Amino acid sequence: MEPVDLAVTALHPSVDDPALNSMNFLNEVAQHYPEAVSLAAGRPYEEFFDSAVLHEHLDAFRRHLADDLGLSPEQVDRTLLQYGRTKGIVHHLIARNLAVDEQLTVDPEAIVVTVGCQEAMFLVLRALRAGPRDVLFAVAPTYVGLTGAARLVDLPVRPVTGGPDGVDLADLRAQVHRARADGLRPRACYVMPDFANPSGVRMDLAQRRRLLDLAAEEDLLLIEDNPYGLFPAAGAERLPTLKALDTRRRVVYLGSFAKTVLPGARVGYVVADQRVAGSDGTVGPLADQLAKIKSMVTVNTSAISQAVIGGALLAHGCSLVAANVRERAAYARNLRHMVDGLARRFPAGGPVRWNVPAGGFFVVVTVPFAVDDALLHRSARGYGVLWTPMAHFYDADAPVNALRLSVSAVTPEQIDLGLDRLAALITDASAGAFGAAVSARAAP
Ligand SMILES: Cc1ncc(COP(=O)(O)O)c(C=O)c1O
Repeated sequence: MEPVDLAVTALHPSVDDPALNSMNFLNEVAQHYPEAVSLAAGRPYEEFFDSAVLHEHLDAFRRHLADDLGLSPEQVDRTLLQYGRTKGIVHHLIARNLAVDEQLTVDPEAIVVTVGCQEAMFLVLRALRAGPRDVLFAVAPTYVGLTGAARLVDLPVRPVTGGPDGVDLADLRAQVHRARADGLRPRACYVMPDFANPSGVRMDLAQRRRLLDLAAEEDLLLIEDNPYGLFPAAGAERLPTLKALDTRRRVVYLGSFAKTVLPGARVGYVVADQRVAGSDGTVGPLADQLAKIKSMVTVNTSAISQAVIGGALLAHGCSLVAANVRERAAYARNLRHMVDGLARRFPAGGPVRWNVPAGGFFVVVTVPFAVDDALLHRSARGYGVLWTPMAHFYDADAPVNALRLSVSAVTPEQIDLGLDRLAALITDASAGAFGAAVSARAAP
């Protein structure tokens, strides 16, 4: 055995937590089987990437700084090349984007531009976790990045039933009361009202309003994460975000440009307009407190990355809806192809079931056997298809009888091939070819 200098048990407990291993594990499986069709990756479709536009975006943002904001050539260079404002340099363009696409009026000072939405999540949870009594709620199944970020700041996450309406409000209320009865302090509930990852579920308008009312009644913040809202299915309308309906400053809104511009820039943001009374008697947006945390984590988001995103926004009048016409059509086509392909391969009323999301990247397939990491390896090795075990999105070890399929990084032909291979795997697993099926928790 190799000599060791440190035991993992001597490090922060999060590093040995399954939530922090999840993304690495799934990436490693994908790298190990590069020939397999990947219905696992929730990445944007790469054929739309074009590195030539990076320079155009940078130039457009430089012109914006000079012509629209009146900066001198020296100031333009400093803005792009020097350390910069902690809260970011494209906050005003993000505010304009939210006004144009979401009819949401936001003070640019309430925005912090972050290194991806992931950093935004971390900043918010770090700020909210003030002491050992604090607890967060999250609709289950939930995005593993949220669970992982909560682990980093020692914030326990209590699952709330999701169900077909996106969140079971009775369960949320009961959970809040139970936590208080346990002496805990509920801080917030994390939700994805638009085409959630992994469930694909979205909340209808009435449910959004009811959730906002509940948050006000229970004195709870809502953390709204919305990376997929721009991608409704064919024929589906977009709905107002929770933040656009929020008249009581209950919602902290997380945004990402990974799916709507490009993930390589690693730019996201948080809108945190909650008024915070400082110890010096001043009152300012929660964003100012988040900026203090950010200054000790990443100092500022890369100005060059922000400039690329800023230029992309400017190229389309700050509308990402306008910028994503092609993408929206492709993802909607793929989603339709996926659910039609499932219907062709699995008889209605049979043991294999799936949801038909109103948009987004993901479909959840429920099967009559436990789906675990070992089955994923078997699928990759023996059948040439990758997907994501739903167990990765639950905060427990119990196996789950469901898997997540993603439509974002594949062509319709790859979807067909992947589904043929998945059907073969499901046939063999259902027939007990891989040993007795483990009893599993049902997926939602
Ligand atoms: C629900 C959700 N939130 C946040 C993120 C991360 O966004 P970013 O790449 O901007 O950090 C993802 C990425 O897949 C996601 O699915």
